[in-house]
Amino acid sequence: MTDGKITTVRLGDGGPEVGVQGLGCMGMNFGYGPSDAGESRATLERALELGVTLYDTADAYGAGENETFLSPFFKAHRDEVVIATKFALSIPPDDPTRRIIRNDPPYIRSCVEASLGRLGVEAIDLYYMHRRNPDVPIEESVGAMAELVREGKVKHLGLSEVTGAELRAAQAVHPIAAVQSEWSLFSRDIEAGVVPAARELGVALVPYSPLGRGFLTGSFSNAEKDLTADDFRRQQPRFTGENAAANTALLEPVRAVADAHDTSLGQIALAWVQQQAQVHDLPVVPIPGTRKASRVEENTAATGIVLTEAELALLEPIAAEVAGDRYADMTFTSAGRE
Ligand SMILES: NC(=O)c1ccc[n+]([C@@H]2O[C@H](COP(=O)([O-])OP(=O)(O)OC[C@H]3O[C@@H](n4cnc5c(N)ncnc54)[C@H](OP(=O)(O)O)[C@@H]3O)[C@@H](O)[C@H]2O)c1
Repeated sequence: MTDGKITTVRLGDGGPEVGVQGLGCMGMNFGYGPSDAGESRATLERALELGVTLYDTADAYGAGENETFLSPFFKAHRDEVVIATKFALSIPPDDPTRRIIRNDPPYIRSCVEASLGRLGVEAIDLYYMHRRNPDVPIEESVGAMAELVREGKVKHLGLSEVTGAELRAAQAVHPIAAVQSEWSLFSRDIEAGVVPAARELGVALVPYSPLGRGFLTGSFSNAEKDLTADDFRRQQPRFTGENAAANTALLEPVRAVADAHDTSLGQIALAWVQQQAQVHDLPVVPIPGTRKASRVEENTAATGIVLTEAELALLEPIAAEVAGDRYADMTFTSAGRE
């Protein structure tokens, strides 16, 4: 940290300069049970004071509600924030377990207009394809996204949950600033193909769910028992039943490292993700999600923690031992197509 602010890094070779940790805003309106609008607004303001500039949303979060909620904050700080949103995914409100994925150009165009309207800004700084529909050639989708850049509606392009091969094909059409995929002590499948491709192509990694959706902080240990009925995490195999108990035991080495640094478990989980930038030699900007200002303070403080080789070695085996997939349906992830 310098001047009480986190350091900055460039997102991909031609991407925007951002604080080395972003903020995931999804939970402010969607997925993780009840939230308090005032507390969320205070969280956004505190994050900005601490040098967080990359704010992550999507049209799928609350069917546009999340973008609408963030709009006043973005408009008040337009020159200081980097707005990242996404298209491609819709979740029918009457069946939150279903996923509809569209990547066709007319749909992309209708989505960008709708997001710009809800956000109330003239351009989106980083526009991601949220999920891949393999029925549409990626060149066609990225071609349509590139047109949005030419028209000034979008400044930079990103892809979420793509494979290494899909990223290479996309980059041949238009520069990609960032790949957003799940990456944490519990989820390391992208290290096989996606991370090497990103490094080779000069693309940044934006790890989502770097706190394992909160599980790595120890704040819940069984989604069915600890979280509300509408919480998305109750659908994720690793957080329920016997898997949850087995995975709770995997936090012991994280606790040992946290004790050695006199930090929280979550800070060690975040420090591990941040340190993958050095391990894999590429820009890494995790976007932990929180609705509490005090947690932004805790999470950004983790950017200053450096884990030793011995500590990295102690944490190394965890991911391979995690019981249960990260989604009930892995076909929507890069790992499901690799
Ligand atoms: N591209 C994609 O497909 C995709 C998928 C999922 C998420 N995302 C994006 O990534 C962002 C982050 O992922 P995520 O929210 O799923 O998971 P996460 O960042 O791993 O964890 C978020 C959870 O951890 C809790 N938390 C945060 N800081 C904490 C702290 N210091 N101590 C204790 N608990 C803490 C949060 O609770 P509180 O909110 O109550 O603080 C929330 O329940 C999302 O907001 C979203 O923007 C993208």
